[in-house]
Amino acid sequence: MTEHRPAAVIVLAAGAGTRMKSATPKVLHRIGGRTLVHHALAAAAGTGADHLVAVLRHERELVAGHIAQLADELPLTVELAEQGRVPGTGAAAECALGVLPVDLAGTVVVTYGDVPLLTSETLDELVGFHEAGGNGVTVLSAQLGDPTGYGRIVRDASGALERIVEQKDADEATRAITEINSGIYAFDAAVLRTSLAKVSTENNQREKYLTDVIEIARDAGSPVAALPIDDVWQVEGANDRVQLAGLGAELNRRILTHWMREGVTVVDPTTTWIDADVELAADVTILPGVQLHGATRVDTGAEIGPDSTLTDVEVGAGASVIRTHGSLSVIGAGAKVGPFAYLRPGTELGADGKIGTFVETKNAHIGRASKVPHLTYVGDATIGEESNIGASSVFVNYDGVNKHHTTVGSHVRTGSDTMFVAPVNVGDGAYSGAGTVIRKDVPAGALALTYGPQKIVEDWVIEHRPGTPAAEAAAAAKKKSEED
Ligand code: UD1
Ligand code: MG
Repeated sequence: MTEHRPAAVIVLAAGAGTRMKSATPKVLHRIGGRTLVHHALAAAAGTGADHLVAVLRHERELVAGHIAQLADELPLTVELAEQGRVPGTGAAAECALGVLPVDLAGTVVVTYGDVPLLTSETLDELVGFHEAGGNGVTVLSAQLGDPTGYGRIVRDASGALERIVEQKDADEATRAITEINSGIYAFDAAVLRTSLAKVSTENNQREKYLTDVIEIARDAGSPVAALPIDDVWQVEGANDRVQLAGLGAELNRRILTHWMREGVTVVDPTTTWIDADVELAADVTILPGVQLHGATRVDTGAEIGPDSTLTDVEVGAGASVIRTHGSLSVIGAGAKVGPFAYLRPGTELGADGKIGTFVETKNAHIGRASKVPHLTYVGDATIGEESNIGASSVFVNYDGVNKHHTTVGSHVRTGSDTMFVAPVNVGDGAYSGAGTVIRKDVPAGALALTYGPQKIVEDWVIEHRPGTPAAEAAAAAKKKSEED
């Protein structure tokens, strides 16, 4: 929680976001594994405000449903306000006041649902500055090389904030101003309420502008100020997919910087993507081409990559995961996975175990130090400890209608190309021969074989495939052995 707790934070998220050209509402687009509105609400909630309000209108049901799902991840309850027919940021703020207590006093912060890099610390600074100055309104501003599209900060001769003029209402001289309105503000609750009541829609967009509050408050004798922010990424909104990608890359850069400072080696930050909710321990090494998504956790000493994508995967200390695609899985300490492994949901690999090359697993519990090294499918199975599954085996879990489970004990050694036709059990210490099709339970310590005797037809190739390189090689070998 931050030092200066506001009375309320209002997150505006009612806009249509037409420039995204998307069937998905803008604030539900994602960077760093979270929606834009999740980032915005997390920063707002981090202030520890008494109230947190989101203003919705466009695709209200969808956005409200998503916000409801975030309840467990946010430290504050989000109250919802619906914007009515009057357009504009001022109208949106007014709707938020409608769900707040009428006698609400203190500082009200306004932010946007599509500004994902803003931090709680910046909001804390804004509120601290605002309250220290006894201001009615404080707006966070920024200097931009290209201010096109933004509202401009107009200061008087003494440099004090006078008003904000929208791009569409600005004359040429005003458009030349490079200090812009970020759209993030701290208001005194009473000043906001009384000023908003006086805002009209008399402008080129026929909208109720929140920015008009500044001039109204100033004229009423309330101190107003603009606080410039150096880190302009924090106030950048994602209005189209170009900005979305740019913000996503910058967020990733910040996340990687954070983890590197916490002791994680990231060999190639340009090809490494880590979501906001991932957690890494010190002395983890991330090799090039890695994406870590969702609630992935990696413990100390583990090495991930190159070229691996893990979503909601737990990786134990000292494990190694090479060229692997995995989701909703647990990899034990010291275990080895890959190269070229596919871990589907429900995979649990015990400590020091191995899921090797061209192995696919699903709903598979593989015990401590057990190994599935090569070319194998393990689906719906439990394997005990220190067992070894031979190359090219299949846990045949699907009978065409239903899925069935296979249980393999500890210290089992199965031959290459064993088929486990589920449901079936293989007892502790059992063996199977190469090519065995296990259809019946194998008792502990038994050897299972499905054995057809090997038949040899002498000279078949020489007689039936004359003139082929194989027949010629066979004839030459025969001649040589006769000469010897
Ligand atoms: C607004 C500011 C502008 C500032 C810019 C910063 C006003 C009048 N203008 O521009 O000075 O430089 O932000 O990005 O405030 N929203 C609603 N309801 C609405 C309209 C917008 O909730 O009726 C929300 C949008 O969902 C979005 C935010 O407000 O999150 C900003 O809307 P947008 O249209 O992008 O900003 P502008 O009005 O162009
Ligand atoms: Mg607008």
